[in-house]
Amino acid sequence: MPYEVKGVVARSKGAPVTIETILVPDPGPGEAVVDVQACGVCHTDLHYREGGINDDFPFLLGHEAAGVVSAVGEGVTNVAVGDYVILNWRAVCGQCRACAKGKPWYCFNTHNAAQKMTLADGTELSPALGIGAFAEKTLVHSGQCTKVDPAAPPTAAGLLGCGVMAGVGAAINTGGVSRGDTVAVFGCGGVGDAAIAGSRLAGAAKIIAVDIDDRKLEWARGMGATHTVNSKDADPVAAIKELTGGFGVDVAIDAVGHPAVYRQAFDARDLAGTVVLVGVPNPTMTIELPLIEVFGRGGALKSSWYGDCLPSRDFPMLIDLYLQGRFDLDAFVSETIGLGDVEAAFEKMHHGDVLRSVVVF
Ligand SMILES: NC(=O)c1ccc[n+]([C@@H]2O[C@H](COP(=O)([O-])OP(=O)(O)OC[C@H]3O[C@@H](n4cnc5c(N)ncnc54)[C@H](O)[C@@H]3O)[C@@H](O)[C@H]2O)c1
Ligand SMILES: [Zn+2]
Ligand SMILES: [Zn+2]
Repeated sequence: MPYEVKGVVARSKGAPVTIETILVPDPGPGEAVVDVQACGVCHTDLHYREGGINDDFPFLLGHEAAGVVSAVGEGVTNVAVGDYVILNWRAVCGQCRACAKGKPWYCFNTHNAAQKMTLADGTELSPALGIGAFAEKTLVHSGQCTKVDPAAPPTAAGLLGCGVMAGVGAAINTGGVSRGDTVAVFGCGGVGDAAIAGSRLAGAAKIIAVDIDDRKLEWARGMGATHTVNSKDADPVAAIKELTGGFGVDVAIDAVGHPAVYRQAFDARDLAGTVVLVGVPNPTMTIELPLIEVFGRGGALKSSWYGDCLPSRDFPMLIDLYLQGRFDLDAFVSETIGLGDVEAAFEKMHHGDVLRSVVVF
């Protein structure tokens, strides 16, 4: 018997989200049903609603979540009923060419549930990033469940499921930020601030936060930014060079996903430095770069899928750091809201009023 629960659905491009009755099937082989306890509102949910990811409407939104496993299908061994888990959207396969090379964070064949959740009339839903956790229960592949210490509250833990992991990983895993490095982070939302917090954790000497909103820059300081630049008022490239002895930063992270910002990151980087693109551009965006500078500046231009994380390695590690008081996940939670408040949360995100709104169940 399928479970009948409430969930937040984006029915068509740009239309406000609605709460719908969702049918969640019993878990099949390799699948798990999770009772969602908290799910953060990420900018990617808004990208889905705006048709910026693909056109597979209707979407069941929400993908940054923690909860408790309530049922498992045949053959599931990594989790059991009652386990406290963070949901991840890149369940590695262990067999593709990336996994075979020992680089599973690049896995090219990540797993999602085989069965579909549906609306009450049988219309199949596309769960955001294969999760769909703005719902009381959701169906996922068991590999999408990562067990963590239940001492961490779900409002904090769930954030590791997307934005915070993406940001921390963009700095530490993709950018390779380490002790003494200089870093610039463009866009100080949940992802950018996590990149700042991750850079601090890694021992960066200088962390320059860039945003167009002064409130975001103030919050960024709380996360560990040593300097801030409002790129509406000042040329961020010139400001970053001035702060780094005229050289630029070792690692420049674009957490917006916009060609103009990417260009700033490209130009604000020291010779042999690294540019990391973690913000998600929309499919119409293009960029033109002088090839001689791509060559002449050396270093690396990298993209960061989910912070190049390995959930089984990185989620429990960051939860441990949180429980030790060394990584403040609570600082990302601006407000807790109900399932009916997601549209309003998008509005607040759009106006820069929040870092993360988190739906609690
Ligand atoms: N790569 C991944 O795996 C991954 C994972 C999660 C989210 N994302 C993406 O990361 C991006 C950020 O997500 P978020 O949840 O932090 O969003 P957010 O809306 O909370 O934050 C975006 C920030 O960028 C700032 N900004 C906007 N335009 C700017 C500009 N021109 N220059 C400087 N700052 C500017 C905004 O003021 C805001 O503070 C989104 O594109 C999201 O889709 C990527
Ligand atoms: Zn794989
Ligand atoms: Zn996300």
